[in-house]
Amino acid sequence: MTAIAPHNDQLLAVKKLRVHFFTGAGVVQAVDGVDFAVSPRETLGLVGESGSGKTISSLALLRLIPRPGKIIGGEIIFKHEDLIAKREEEMIKIRGKNIAMIFQNPAYSLNPIYSIGDQLGEILTWHEKLSRQAANERVAELLQLVGITDPFSRLRQFPHELSGGMKQRVCIARALLCSPPLVLADEPTTNLDVTIQAQILDLLQELKERFHMSMILVTHDMGVVARMADRITVMYAGRICETATARTIFENPRHPYTQALLATMPRVDHSYSDGKTRRLPVIPGRIPNLIEPPSGCRFHPRCPASDDECARILPELLSLEEGHWVSCIKAG
Ligand SMILES: Nc1ncnc2c1ncn2[C@@H]1O[C@H](COP(=O)(O)OP(=O)(O)OP(=O)(O)O)[C@@H](O)[C@H]1O
Ligand SMILES: [Mg+2]
Repeated sequence: MTAIAPHNDQLLAVKKLRVHFFTGAGVVQAVDGVDFAVSPRETLGLVGESGSGKTISSLALLRLIPRPGKIIGGEIIFKHEDLIAKREEEMIKIRGKNIAMIFQNPAYSLNPIYSIGDQLGEILTWHEKLSRQAANERVAELLQLVGITDPFSRLRQFPHELSGGMKQRVCIARALLCSPPLVLADEPTTNLDVTIQAQILDLLQELKERFHMSMILVTHDMGVVARMADRITVMYAGRICETATARTIFENPRHPYTQALLATMPRVDHSYSDGKTRRLPVIPGRIPNLIEPPSGCRFHPRCPASDDECARILPELLSLEEGHWVSCIKAG
């Protein structure tokens, strides 16, 4: 087994990333030595239960960690440059232009006091130095592309005039305005109706291909990554458990946490007369307190395969086979 090594063809390589929150109750080790990478045009699914550090890891890429959080270590190599070393003035030029984010709740990410045309147009006048009219035309073009009818009249509308699904389409259009090479989508469909969810996921997939973008898709839903991701990274309590192609994760998961997550996947249960999908029981036990995380492997208190060694040894993320990385001392 060998330690993780970067490849030259990567668009993004996150190495040993650490983000801690300095709270009155203690230091929350929210992201604690995380490695993952994204190649051009690929979708990386970032999965894990609530509190595993998916959103904080994504926000770190944009250097948008809320107080009292701080990036305390690691590297974020994007197009061969370390974003952690960049000044804020340089980051402003990267956000939206090179890395854009689609958030879980479109209601929070759109500004209620500006029209759609004003808030999306501003991104283009600023990043691309477009004239007001050229910006409007480009915004309308993008709105049309994300399936919004009558786009020119939408420019004058305000977020509250749109449905949840429409707002999320506007957020997708906004993320794509500058054709960024990397889009971060954090639970982009969680707040939407099931039928709208499927439409938005299809739209993201189509646009990703059309614009030759890479995407990090954050979700706790294994069904969503099964449908969308080329590769999957599984997080637990601020650390990476496993990274592999989507196929390997589903067919040959090697980390007990990945196996447990797959066991909670919703599936059609025909014993119910309505034939609806049911969520199976959640993984027993709770995500640990990240102020005093468990010793050794953070998953060991909940792990059916753990023994004394697991409580002592902090497992490194090691390669089991080409492209398959696992941090479990029992997985060798
Ligand atoms: N403002 C904060 N103050 C203290 N700790 C925080 C703060 N924000 C996040 N954390 C810590 O960071 C951890 C990771 O949070 P994060 O939001 O990244 O989880 P997540 O995987 O995105 O979960 P979810 O699926 O619920 O969105 C949390 O468990 C929490 O301990
Ligand atoms: Mg989150």
